[in-house]
Amino acid sequence: MFALLAGRGLLTLPRAGLLGPRRTKLDASNMYDKMKFKFTKENKARIASILTWYPEEERRGALLPLLDIAQRQHGWLPITAVVAVAELLKIDPMKAYETAKYYTMFYMKPRGKFVVSVCTSTPCYLRGGDELLKACAKMLRLQPGETSKDMQFTLKDDYCLGACVNAPVASVNDDLYEDLTEVSFESILSDLKCGRVPPAGPCSGRCSSEPIDGQTTLLMEPPPAGYGMRDLDDPGKKCK
Ligand code: FES
Repeated sequence: MFALLAGRGLLTLPRAGLLGPRRTKLDASNMYDKMKFKFTKENKARIASILTWYPEEERRGALLPLLDIAQRQHGWLPITAVVAVAELLKIDPMKAYETAKYYTMFYMKPRGKFVVSVCTSTPCYLRGGDELLKACAKMLRLQPGETSKDMQFTLKDDYCLGACVNAPVASVNDDLYEDLTEVSFESILSDLKCGRVPPAGPCSGRCSSEPIDGQTTLLMEPPPAGYGMRDLDDPGKKCK
């Protein structure tokens, strides 16, 4: 029914208000929101398996994973996909729509094949994140928020990506590139332009977030299981 309404250019989604149910209209008049959406057979099987994790009355808990599956299938989330997810979970479509709009990982409009997000929050900013963003904008000839005409790149000026200790950081789709310099970032972008996805992780050569010149802690063999616990036969004595 929602798909039919969307096809007519106006999608009306029910929404519960304080004074009882009310209806909120979404303008679905642009071409993006009229796109047909149907889960593939493989994704239907994936969804069926995810739904087994949730009791029947708590199915709404699967909203984020299902929206993610819909986005991975379609590349972005048209309203019809959001409604398909809501129908599967038997929840208010407006709730699903609000959730999809809230999280920046969901894209309600077509995006580039590679979404490049450069972190400019404080730790990354102090390590040159803003310069990295400028260099990236220059190289891709895009401003933050824009998508290239060939739909290869979308550039984002993003908030903390959760890897501050390896600042400055940028992400490309699901991968994080850390300890970036303009030179290493340019080489990553050049690879992407040629369709190659370089290995993710720190570009400085260090392992994860270890100090740059090697590990400084946890250098001994860890003690065996039970180390330091009380010996129950002799409570005054501790196991070695
Ligand atoms: S501030 Fe950039 S990853 Fe946290």
